[in-house]
Amino acid sequence: MPDFTRGQPQGSATMLTPGFIDRATSRATDPRRELNESLGASTPFIAPKLFYDRLGSALFTAICELPEYYPTRTEAAIFDANSDEIAAAVGAGSTLIDLGAGDCAKAARLFASLAPAQYVAVDISVDFVRDALGRLQPRFPALPMLGIGADFSQRLELPGAVRSERRVFFYPGSSIGNFTPTQAREFLRGLRTQVDLDGGLLLGVDLAKPSEIVEPAYDDALGVTAAFNLNVLNHVNRLIGSDFVLADWRHVALLNEAESRIEMHLEARRDLRVRWPGGERRFRAGDRIHTENSYKYRRADLEQMFRDAGFVSDRCWTDDRGWFALFFARPDPQYDDRNAN
Ligand code: AVJ
Repeated sequence: MPDFTRGQPQGSATMLTPGFIDRATSRATDPRRELNESLGASTPFIAPKLFYDRLGSALFTAICELPEYYPTRTEAAIFDANSDEIAAAVGAGSTLIDLGAGDCAKAARLFASLAPAQYVAVDISVDFVRDALGRLQPRFPALPMLGIGADFSQRLELPGAVRSERRVFFYPGSSIGNFTPTQAREFLRGLRTQVDLDGGLLLGVDLAKPSEIVEPAYDDALGVTAAFNLNVLNHVNRLIGSDFVLADWRHVALLNEAESRIEMHLEARRDLRVRWPGGERRFRAGDRIHTENSYKYRRADLEQMFRDAGFVSDRCWTDDRGWFALFFARPDPQYDDRNAN
């Protein structure tokens, strides 16, 4: 029997074993059906969750290191500068539910100050989470960990293995920006049904700001974001057997001020045709496939959205420049979701 405890920070006698539940491979999220529809739509699109195959996840990690991509490091600075207050607001002993956990690095940095009772990592890729928790458990041998593979963009239903006490949803990085505001509100309402009054929501959101700052963050000089965007076609080719040629497409990022969102598109460089088993589509030079919306919010809009979804904003931390906000929201005890519309 190997000695797992040697050199462990917590000196615990035994190391727990992470549990895993895979719910990502259901009929409801069949990529072939989804892509047949989305590529065939009058304005074709590819869902942004499809960016995150292995290479796409690595490219996103690289994006976070880019000088132009401010959100990740701005959010990290907010966590660093306010760790005591954040810990006090969340409180010890929570069931920390990490939505889109990926490599679990952001949550792991909070374990020491938040002292959760259980860590639940939810991600569309259960394999990614399996690797991450395998590496994380030895560092925190006494913390119960559970990995869940689920496409929570549709609907999140937590299995019984998730503690029901003090559930705190952790949704950092402004990932909520991928939803439309209506979808975001419905998503938060869904979370509200999964927490008791002792729970909460720790949410990181990118704030609205001038195009000179936002646009370069999505169209960097090195071309990493372009590679990230184009790579979705590699992933789609593997998923449905399509014959997208990456060289035929150009990365486009633009700020849609009316909608307060950055849009990413792939634009056809020439007239072309794409085929896959069960479908095909012609594109004219200049036609676009919409790959991502990244909404930028104002603080007051977020606070209204919380109220509409049955939460109340408890705390809000921001950086000196006011570029990014971290909210801690609590369930509104007065909220009655039967009145929600
Ligand atoms: C992971 C959705 C927060 O919108 O900024 C980064 C993804 N896309 N660069 C974002 C992304 C292009 C990112 N989110």
